[in-house]
Order: sequence, then structure tokens, then C-alpha cells
Amino acid sequence: MFRIVRREALTPATFLWEVEAPDVATSAQPGQFVMVRLHDGAERIPLTIADFDPVRGTVTIVVQSLGASTAEMRDHYAEGDEFADFVGPLGMPTEIPPAPEGGSHVVLVGGGLGVAPVFPQLRAFKQAGHRTTCVVGFRSIDLAFWLDRLGQWADHLIVCTDDGSSGRAGLVTEALAEVVADDRPDLAVAIGPMVMMRACAEVTRPAGVHTVASLNTIMVDGTGMCGSCRVTVDGVTRFACVDGPDFDAHAV
Ligand code: FES
Repeated sequence: MFRIVRREALTPATFLWEVEAPDVATSAQPGQFVMVRLHDGAERIPLTIADFDPVRGTVTIVVQSLGASTAEMRDHYAEGDEFADFVGPLGMPTEIPPAPEGGSHVVLVGGGLGVAPVFPQLRAFKQAGHRTTCVVGFRSIDLAFWLDRLGQWADHLIVCTDDGSSGRAGLVTEALAEVVADDRPDLAVAIGPMVMMRACAEVTRPAGVHTVASLNTIMVDGTGMCGSCRVTVDGVTRFACVDGPDFDAHAV
């Protein structure tokens, strides 16, 4: 069994679980995910790792209650409660090379819930010596979370809201286009809804900026056996759960 050591509501629909899982915390790397199963007979829920702390032996996941299982997580599990399975880390870690001599600029774009998995990547790129710009987008400022944490690791943080309730009004792609034009990054990372990641790829493609998208396809087993997470990359079939979730956004 795995224990929820901290539970925090981030927005009305989004909450965080910090889970005691020392083995996962020790081997987790940015970009990887876990499979949660609440109890016998429950479905497996793939969730990207939003933070990990090998010293505390904990892994943090951020969840949006959209379906029955995530609503069960929200409504029936409190801080201190235990649940059945927490399998991971799964998937390939994000490639984070040390910054080259002369420096490099990485822009990370997160939309909605995608902001959570952006966090460990942002921190790792910064720790590896890269200059970082972080662009995050929410429908409204009431749905924003972790801006303070992102601000600790981003050299430049740009907050966008669809309704203009705070920060810059408009889509993350518009802010990304400005960054690409004014301060060309060496690498772009996009995590969020498919349509957002596709739009980011179209912004960076003409400028030839290598772009990585983290594909949140449907996953069932998370181990490469079921085939439900198939994606086509450069004309070749790949499995998001074992070959990804990160792929070249211009090749998907
Ligand atoms: Fe089953 Fe990837 S989730 S093969």
C-alpha cells in the first residue's frame, strides 16, 4: 500500500497528492510517469510525475478530476489514506544534456494541467546550466497554480490567461512566437493538450527550433504490451508509454 502524505487542492478541479514511495522517488527523472491503481478492480490511471524528493522518499502527482477514477481520488482519499498501487517510474526520462559552453536557451511551454510536469523539467534544465524561459497558460487566473515554484527556476516566466484575468491575455502560442522571434531558443518543450502542443510545433517549425512534445495518449498497461498508446513518429509506430512520452514534435 502507498500512503498520501500530503493532499492539497490547487484549484476547484485540480489537486495534488504527495505519495510516500521511496523506490519511485529515488529513481524518478523528469518526463516520466506513474500508474496509480486505487484498489482491487480499479482501473489504472497514468499520471505524469510533477515532482519527486529522494530525501523525503516522496513523489508528487497533480490530478484533474475528469473521469470516475480521478473523481474517486478527489472525493474518497484524504491525507494519510493509503491506496493499492503506485507503479513507476515508467517511460523514458526527458533528455537534459548539460548546457554547452556559450550557453543555451530552453523555452518550456505548459498549458493547464501540463504545467505540473513542466516543473521538474524546468528545474532540471536550469540545474544543468541552461537559461530558461517558461510560458504557462490557463483559462483564467483562478485555475493557475505553482507560479511561485516555476518563478524560482525560470529566468523569465510568462503567464498567459485566455480571459485576460491576469498576466498576458491570449494563448501560449502567441507568447511562444514572440520568444522565438525576439530571443530564439535552442530547444522548446511543450506539455499540455494535444491541440496546444501541435500549435506550438507549428510556431517553432519555421524557425527550425527543435521541439519536444510530451504525448499524453490513452494508456492502459503502461508497459508496451497493450498497444493503446500507439503514435506514429516519422512514419514509424511507437508506443508513448515505453518509447516516450517525449517525442520530436515536428515528427509526430
Ligand atoms: Fe499499453 Fe503503451 S499503454 S502499450
